[in-house]
Amino acid sequence: MSDHQPPENRPHSAEFFNDMRDFWWNLDFLRLTAERLEFARVANMLDVGCGLGHWTRALAQVLPESTRFTGIDREDQWVRGAAERASRAGLGARSEFVKGDATALPFADESFDLVTCQTVLMHLPDARVGLREMIRVAKRGGLILATEPCNMASMGVFSSVTDAFPTDVVAATLRFHLTLQRGKRALGLGFNSIGDLVPGMMAALGVQDIRVYMSDRAAPMYPPYDKPDQRAEIAQLKDWHAREHWVWDRATTKSYYVAGGGGEEDFDQLWQQAGRQMRAEIEAMDAGTYHCGNASITYLVSGRKE
Ligand SMILES: C[S@@+](CC[C@H](N)C(=O)[O-])C[C@H]1O[C@@H](n2cnc3c(N)ncnc32)[C@H](O)[C@@H]1O
Repeated sequence: MSDHQPPENRPHSAEFFNDMRDFWWNLDFLRLTAERLEFARVANMLDVGCGLGHWTRALAQVLPESTRFTGIDREDQWVRGAAERASRAGLGARSEFVKGDATALPFADESFDLVTCQTVLMHLPDARVGLREMIRVAKRGGLILATEPCNMASMGVFSSVTDAFPTDVVAATLRFHLTLQRGKRALGLGFNSIGDLVPGMMAALGVQDIRVYMSDRAAPMYPPYDKPDQRAEIAQLKDWHAREHWVWDRATTKSYYVAGGGGEEDFDQLWQQAGRQMRAEIEAMDAGTYHCGNASITYLVSGRKE
């Protein structure tokens, strides 16, 4: 899980709505979550920053069959796409998707039993503003559920390729990522490791019965890479490499680096190293030697409105 500033002329997060998103959750873990958080009580749900509705559809599998869904996103294209996909998934009659801002939700106070988001607070200049709105539109006793990552953690995961890199190269890459995350945040574009801070934010906003879980899904890569999620990951990596893209495009990455306190003179070398790493990974995949446990941290932070 990841993200970025919208490149010009492309809607927000366009780079990340690829096939990998269909494999983010283990269904048995979602069922466990439904039990832990008493989803049986949910008659209606709001998905804030719904994008193409991946989170709505994932949760629909474990919510009561009568649950009504509302999704909201600030991008027209995602709102239309979410509605189409919901229809294809058989949810058309009990879902609606509308355009709007997560920091000023166009809903009355106390409207929903479940107010949730997935990888959205990480994009807001101040996640607390979005959370406050989520709490406002939740019913009393209703559930607020924020699913947000600590993307710094994924950067510390070794693959068979990075395991062979010298310590200095590994450390420089980690430092590069941290500088980029801090730069993105300094530019008011959100914080890619916000998940670490969400429980404290909920507590400060008066949310009760706070619970913090983590997705139990790893995305292991090992030959022959023939599983659908493995193929989707390889497709993404090859697509990025072909476009000289790496998480973000070069110009965006450089703007984050400089805003994070990095020196312009260091940037080219770090960008090239990122490209070399991608190339080495692709070559190892093509040779059938690449492997990685591929862990990531995705928190599910929930609480109840008093
Ligand atoms: C990484 S995507 C996540 C989409 C969806 N929740 C999912 O997990 O598939 C972030 C989404 O938040 C939306 N977004 C970002 N800032 C927003 C805001 N202030 N108000 C509403 N939507 C916003 C973007 O348009 C994008 O669809």
